[in-house]
Amino acid sequence: MSPDSRTLRAAAEAPANIALVKYWGKRDPALNLPAAGSLSLTLAALRTRTSVSFEPGLEADHFTLDGRLDAAAAARVSACLDLLRGAAGCRLRARVSSRNNFPTAAGLASSASGFAALVVAAAAALGLPDDPRQLSRWARRGSGSAARSLHGGFVLMHAGSRADGRDAFAEQLAPAAHWPLELVIAVVEPGPKAIGSRAGMAHGAATSPFHAAWVDSVAADLAAARAAIAARDFAALAAVSEHSCLKMHASMMASRPPLLYWTPATLACTERVRALREDDGREVFFTIDAGPQVKAVCRPADAAAVRAALAAVPGVHAVLHSPLGAGARRVEPAQAA
Ligand code: PMV
Repeated sequence: MSPDSRTLRAAAEAPANIALVKYWGKRDPALNLPAAGSLSLTLAALRTRTSVSFEPGLEADHFTLDGRLDAAAAARVSACLDLLRGAAGCRLRARVSSRNNFPTAAGLASSASGFAALVVAAAAALGLPDDPRQLSRWARRGSGSAARSLHGGFVLMHAGSRADGRDAFAEQLAPAAHWPLELVIAVVEPGPKAIGSRAGMAHGAATSPFHAAWVDSVAADLAAARAAIAARDFAALAAVSEHSCLKMHASMMASRPPLLYWTPATLACTERVRALREDDGREVFFTIDAGPQVKAVCRPADAAAVRAALAAVPGVHAVLHSPLGAGARRVEPAQAA
């Protein structure tokens, strides 16, 4: 029987991740190769479940997110599936159904968990080898941060230097149990972000006078963050993470026209985090991605106080939280969307 004459189905679940040393800029937009490395924490509580079924007779890929057709994302999903179809020698189109267990409308990036779940499910359905580096490279083509969601705990994304991108993949630095940390997310602006990371990065690279300096500075931040994680040195990790975040946003703000993702509530949350640390002695620091939400990283012992403090900041709509967790994994199709 030809491989294209039967339905090939599998499902997977992948976690969101949050970068402490940020990824912002590409060395090759076509292959989605990052200009510098990045380092992230994998979140146990924010996950995407995706089922993929390659079906004879389908004329086009079909993608739903949380039960609704998502035409905007469908082209990126198809482009990512094409890579795996190419590797497997399969021409079948697929039905892809994806569900986030966190509110999509909360304006939290779901592309990382989404593309990681997609490649793990699609590779399993197509019978491709379970090769974490290759899965990470395919996830990267969908979304740069998705390469990191393959792994749990503390994760390093390599920028690589090869033109073909074979050395641009993520790997685990340490499992979640190495250092229990908790993430608290203050949602200050529900709804989708105005300018996505892809367009924002291209705009920054083309117009920000600080972009090259930002890219050049990442290697030193990665070394500092790796040393802090190895030594479980909270103060050192806090310093390098807030520095990386603010430096990325400084470069964004210097773009023309400016890219300013913050709202007054964003800034109020960062001030609250600083006060918790400097006045109340809590071990906590903040980070912010290409949107207005503020993510605080803290010790589990301080998590309740951090959640209560951020929930009380005017303009905060909701507070989510998550411990660190494991990476992407296959699940039974019945368990998925
Ligand atoms: O994966 P992308 O293309 O959505 O880019 C993510 C960019 C940031 O979230 C701002 C930083 C990061 O490293 O996750």
